[in-house]
Amino acid sequence: MPLLPPEYLPLFKAWLVVGQLLQLLWAAVMVGGVLLSLFVFLQAQRYRDPLRLRSARDLLARVLANKLLGLLFWLLAALNLFAVHWVYRPPFFTPPFWMAMLVLLAVALLLLFLYRQLIDRQQPGGVVPLAVGAAGLGLLLGVLSLLACGGAALLKPEYWPHLQHNPLLFLSWNGLARFLLVLCLALPLTGTLLLLRADLAARPKQLPDYQHYLSRRGGVLALLGGLLLPAGLVFDLLTLPLIARSLVGFLLPMVSLSLALLLCLGLCRRLLEGQSPRGEPLLAAVVFICLLIGLGDFLAREQVLADGSAIWQQAYAADQIAPESAAPDQQLLVRGEQIFQSRCTLCHRFDSRLVGPPLGEVLPNYRGRSEALQQFIRQPVKRNPDYPEMPNLGLQQDEAAAVAAYLLERLKQN
Ligand code: HEC
Repeated sequence: MPLLPPEYLPLFKAWLVVGQLLQLLWAAVMVGGVLLSLFVFLQAQRYRDPLRLRSARDLLARVLANKLLGLLFWLLAALNLFAVHWVYRPPFFTPPFWMAMLVLLAVALLLLFLYRQLIDRQQPGGVVPLAVGAAGLGLLLGVLSLLACGGAALLKPEYWPHLQHNPLLFLSWNGLARFLLVLCLALPLTGTLLLLRADLAARPKQLPDYQHYLSRRGGVLALLGGLLLPAGLVFDLLTLPLIARSLVGFLLPMVSLSLALLLCLGLCRRLLEGQSPRGEPLLAAVVFICLLIGLGDFLAREQVLADGSAIWQQAYAADQIAPESAAPDQQLLVRGEQIFQSRCTLCHRFDSRLVGPPLGEVLPNYRGRSEALQQFIRQPVKRNPDYPEMPNLGLQQDEAAAVAAYLLERLKQN
């Protein structure tokens, strides 16, 4: 596929910051709105409470007001996926991957839409709307978690060549952290929606009960989200790959964190004084925090991927070396060298530190212990606190044996 003309790259990168911000906000609102509506709908059934049923419906109307909004969200997700594909060209963004994401997302949105229609039509009492809503929400969360892992995998170009052999490398703590951040953002955003809704309900002064109900719930949700958000931000920072870290990348989450804590203080005061918090400033603050998160993510990506694509292209080139025929023993060593060149040299040199330790320093421990070396290569365990953990590369028994033979032979010659 032709690469994008380089003069368009900044444009697409700028779009990605905006597009991902929109997607993050929208996804968080959807998750929070549907989750809360399911919960409230359950309660409405138990207590036969019209206030609750009404708010479950209101929430959904806000979140997925109509087919058009659902379609727009889907298009936004598609555009973002394509932009990532064009700009960064990670090899795991294959057409089956992004098509599967888009199909699953479409099914999730359809289910949620169906849920809304059912809840609109039905009196409380049915399990069908609940089941449909839960299935839609589950699918949406599944897609979001895979996208979060994709975002995290973008920051680890050294994993890309190995993803084909070991797809589990796609999952990572950083991916989990990103997914949890979406959930942490879902709470304050949903709370904000309730508060804005309560402001509206207050205007005709018809439903003071309803307004009170909404603003109390909204305030408490926003407070909960505000308290969880710092934990999510810290988890994200802790799991960020070392090479993606930078001063600005550290300061941005710190600003978000302080802002979230300030918000919590304000919310606590108002709630304790029995006043209802106001929606607009809260919304502005949460959007600002999302923007900071998106910017930090962008900076980390730029830093890591400046030469990331060069890294994986080099690795693929090494993969293409044709096997040579040689004497049987020699053949093993040649094979070992090939595997070493294609699978290990991203992170290891013999005499200098890269992602992993210099092999010249660690291999002497394995002199005459080929079995132990093979065992480590196939199933690495945490060894040295100065280094990150070596990933499991998914090597087969015979591949590990060949690399081990090559490495120990080379050690002898050194
Ligand atoms: C993605 C980066 C990466 C790749 C690829 C990689 N390693 Fe490592 N390797 C590491 C890191 C990081 C450590 C340090 C782990 C620790 O000390 O916990 C390490 C440690 C080691 C050690 C030292 C073990 C010990 O006992 O201290 C050996 C030997 C090793 N790797 C061999 C290999 C071989 C052989 C390959 C290729 C098949 C390979 N590595 C591929 C990152 C990598």
